[in-house]
Amino acid sequence: MSRLFDCFGREHTYLRISVTDRCNLRCLYCMPEEGMTFMEQDKLLSYSHILEVASAAAKLGIRKFRITGGEPLVRPGLNELVAGIAELPGVEDISLTTNGLLLAPQAAGLKQAGLTRVNVSLDTMDGARFKFIARRGNLDKVWEGIEAAAEAGLNPIKLNCVLLKGVNEDEIGRFLKLSIEQPLHVRFIEYMPIGHDDAGWRGHYLPLTRVLEEAARLGYELERAEGPGGSGPSENWRIVGGAGTFGLIHPISEHFCKNCNRLRLTADGHLKPCLYWVDELNVKPAIGSPDAMEELFHRAMNIKPENHEMAALLAGEHQSHVPTERRMSQIGG
Ligand code: GTP
Ligand code: 5AD
Ligand code: SF4
Repeated sequence: MSRLFDCFGREHTYLRISVTDRCNLRCLYCMPEEGMTFMEQDKLLSYSHILEVASAAAKLGIRKFRITGGEPLVRPGLNELVAGIAELPGVEDISLTTNGLLLAPQAAGLKQAGLTRVNVSLDTMDGARFKFIARRGNLDKVWEGIEAAAEAGLNPIKLNCVLLKGVNEDEIGRFLKLSIEQPLHVRFIEYMPIGHDDAGWRGHYLPLTRVLEEAARLGYELERAEGPGGSGPSENWRIVGGAGTFGLIHPISEHFCKNCNRLRLTADGHLKPCLYWVDELNVKPAIGSPDAMEELFHRAMNIKPENHEMAALLAGEHQSHVPTERRMSQIGG
């Protein structure tokens, strides 16, 4: 088997598959309130075509798959895709990143289809603030989704909290406490400038050193934690004695590209070697040809950059290359 190594010696074992750019929320760091021009339905890869891509990936040593959106649960019939991936040889982990709103009725079926676990976006524990950040939906539904996922055995459950200066930074302590009280894994995430106007992003960007400062201020004793599960970029900690853990995903204040192991497939069928830069390869011409598909993955390895340059952007420095114009919801995070 020829495995996926890039020019910097990093092996790629993780594919993030976006199944839609649509979402039932309008989080202020992600999508304008009025929505966006969404991809036309006939431009989306069908599940059987996604499975062709996933099958080539599995042959090349991809062992972890993540399904993302937009919000993946707004696309009907996701179980079919999960079940198809679960049948591929060598697959160890099939996870889902969701906002949780539609999770409660779907959790058990997804588990049965072969989903291993979920990461749920949760930026606040306050119902009114949820309305301010997400602009739609409601927090109770998200908690129902989290509880249903736990009941269905979709563990470990990770909660993704994008920290925004002046919006939810005062909830760091509350989220840390949650990681003590419940077997949940809270991950704080730095707000990233993906397909954004710089000014809006700079105003709300908050480095995650704030989380460790807050933990120290609260007198918590910390220890480094393993996992839990997954091979994403999170640096994991436990408050000593806590039931859960917390993690820091800090691409800007301290980038983790040297350990990058992941590729992305967009809902309209483009393989993206890096979240940040513009480069992508259209998979549609390779549909129907397993050899051409494998070749495409190797090309993605050849053009994979060493790192992103979000910190340079923050500092107002020159960018060596062209950043993507896709927004996070059009890539899947
Ligand atoms: P686990 O397998 O559970 O560790 O998942 P994950 O952290 O890889 O996935 P998730 O979809 O929950 O992503 C959490 C955050 O990490 C999101 O904000 C992603 O955009 C971000 N993220 C994931 N991979 C990368 C990456 O390669 N680069 C950057 N800059 N951010 C990433
Ligand atoms: N910066 C950081 N994280 C983001 N997410 C969405 N947009 C951004 C952004 N601009 C998060 C979501 C979700 C994950 C896929 O990415 O909250 O949890
Ligand atoms: Fe939807 Fe996720 Fe974007 Fe929020 S971050 S608007 S939940 S795609």
